[in-house]
Amino acid sequence: MELWSSLLCLLLICTLIQTLLSVSKSSKSKRLPPGPIPYPIVGNLLELGNKPHKSLAQLAKVHGPVMSLKLGQITTVVISSAPMAREILQIQDLCFSSRTIPESIKAHNHDQFSVAWLPSTTQWRNLRKISNTHIFTTQKLDANQHLRRKKIEELLAHVQKCCEAGHAVDIGKAAFMTTLNLLSNTVFSVDLVNPNSDAAQEFKSIFWGIMEEAGKPNLADFFPVLKKIDPQGIRRKMSYHFGKMFQIFDKFIDERLESRKTSGSVANVDVLDILLNLNQESQEIDMTHIKHLLLDLLVAGTDTSSNTLEWAMAEILCSPETLSRVQAELNQIINVKIQILN
Ligand code: HEM
Repeated sequence: MELWSSLLCLLLICTLIQTLLSVSKSSKSKRLPPGPIPYPIVGNLLELGNKPHKSLAQLAKVHGPVMSLKLGQITTVVISSAPMAREILQIQDLCFSSRTIPESIKAHNHDQFSVAWLPSTTQWRNLRKISNTHIFTTQKLDANQHLRRKKIEELLAHVQKCCEAGHAVDIGKAAFMTTLNLLSNTVFSVDLVNPNSDAAQEFKSIFWGIMEEAGKPNLADFFPVLKKIDPQGIRRKMSYHFGKMFQIFDKFIDERLESRKTSGSVANVDVLDILLNLNQESQEIDMTHIKHLLLDLLVAGTDTSSNTLEWAMAEILCSPETLSRVQAELNQIINVKIQILN
């Protein structure tokens, strides 16, 4: 308790000094978009509530599609309309392509090696080139399509079984499991979610750990003075999870290199093969970048896809007209007979 009150005092004092210094500088030079008036110290943080996407939509109705908020000590500009998003992300993309890095991502210096977090530098361009020319080409994806087809068949069989038994399908869980296995098969040719494998269970708990820490609001992101203290231990926990993840990658890499030695042949099937070939043949990528890229692909590809699917299904279920249009389209295009549980 004493530690927390000392921390709070320290935060109050530092924030007060910071606020006084920034007020004494010229506030005229700041031409920020309109937004709600911030409270001292916490700014507009309390206005976000526990459903920030809804609160932001509500605030945008009052302040417009480009509005500024003060989240703790961080000035944040929120874009809330499609035309404004296009302006920022497509037309003025170079000006806005760098961003603030959350503290959690700095664990194991991930921000300094990750294609997803690097600013637009030569290092980022090289990683993009490797992804575009060696991993995400139609030819490469077609070559390892069989690795994913089986997972889709398993998902369909699971849905069919639930339908026949009259059980509801947990879309979120099914989507997460399928997406992670689709990716892990594309990358390593293995299932990383598998109730019968201890290694897969360990992976799942590390993966959840990363998602959980990355998704938590971190005081150190809103009050930079707290970065060193890491008051919620988020960076420390993320370091642990990243470390465990890298150990798993090391194991996959060692096993693959060993099996190549034993068989005497070099395959070019999954992403790990492709990256190891690039490392050994042309030294286009080193082992550190390989491991950070593998982390990016798994983390960036899983939650995004499965959440989008879950949200889409939830929205469709709330809109009977859209639901019947989707069913008709699926029937017409891929000739799937859709059964709905009553
Ligand atoms: C519905 C699914 C997805 C959504 C909504 C989504 C969304 C995004 C967004 C918004 C960014 C830009 C982030 C930023 O720079 O601020 C991004 C970047 C990225 N995504 Fe996705 N993503 C999805 C699926 C995937 C999948 C399946 C993969 C990998 C297999 C993936 C890998 C990446 C990578 C590597 C980057 C960094 C690219 C770069 O900065 O050059 N994403 N994604």
